[in-house]
Amino acid sequence: MARIFYAFFTFQPLIFPFSDKNFKLSTLNFKLFRTFARKYIFFTFSFFTFHSSFFTYMISTRRTIRHYTAREVEPALLDRLLTEAARTQTMGNLQLYSVVVTRSAEGKAALAPAHFNQPMVTQAPVVLTICADFRRTTAWANCRKADPGYDNLLSFMNAATDALLYTQTFCNLAEDAGLGLCFLGTTIYSPQGIIDALHLPQLVFPVAALTIGWPAENPPQTDRLPFESFVHDETYHDPSPADIDRFYAAKEALPDNQEFVRINNKETLAQIFTDIRYTRKDNELLSTNFLEALRMQGFFK
Ligand SMILES: Cc1cc2nc3c(=O)[nH]c(=O)nc-3n(C[C@H](O)[C@H](O)[C@H](O)COP(=O)(O)O)c2cc1C
Repeated sequence: MARIFYAFFTFQPLIFPFSDKNFKLSTLNFKLFRTFARKYIFFTFSFFTFHSSFFTYMISTRRTIRHYTAREVEPALLDRLLTEAARTQTMGNLQLYSVVVTRSAEGKAALAPAHFNQPMVTQAPVVLTICADFRRTTAWANCRKADPGYDNLLSFMNAATDALLYTQTFCNLAEDAGLGLCFLGTTIYSPQGIIDALHLPQLVFPVAALTIGWPAENPPQTDRLPFESFVHDETYHDPSPADIDRFYAAKEALPDNQEFVRINNKETLAQIFTDIRYTRKDNELLSTNFLEALRMQGFFK
């Protein structure tokens, strides 16, 4: 229903003036032009008001989708979204990213182990791998008598920032188009596996992956921390134990989270994260692998 309203308001400013019964090309005069202009301005204004609130609605109702129908993601639609996402901000207007589109069963099977065999990698119609890419810019410089100095950590950070901004803009557009998607953080856990599967050359490094398809589920929305826990007024406010109690009370009280704690024989929800989901041992090992892959790709000498 929201989509029908959206389409109506989107096209209304363009159609309405011409559908006016007074409108005849042969009698177009100043009076008519004034009427036209007034209507156009009014409806354009209402369109933008509606459009911005629709965008807020889209963001505030979104959720990660991990199960997809068998319907394909039409190549023309995907190409359009990938093109539109390039409107995002980018360092020096250089677009320091590349996207590898994986649709084939073999391609997805090759990626799956690097993503710890998360089922959506092979089940989703499309997997996108978004890479920090200084290779194309470096090649451009080399072809134009310019001396590129982008084989370093700062350049990687700039390209990674570009790639993640592009990724998020794409996510907004894809969700707005009705697609469901899941961000795969495993991309930076086993980068070498992805580099090998996608044949990524030097100065190209995977930083994000998305599984995409038409939603086959509508899971409940997840919780979020309160505003005051992450917004600081003028200077950083280090949270006291009492602040922590307040910020995390709702999350810790959720029945699902209490059940996780119980079935894993833990004392607190935080222990689920530190002892099971994201452990020190894993983080240190994966950090070592990450640095090694950065070195191999020429970003970290
Ligand atoms: C950096 C990052 C890594 C993530 N990695 C995974 C992942 O590997 N597997 C997965 O199922 N979801 C992953 N997600 C999705 C999160 O689990 C999800 O965004 C979070 O639980 C909040 O749920 P929501 O997106 O429905 O609001 C990741 C999200 C981000 C931003």
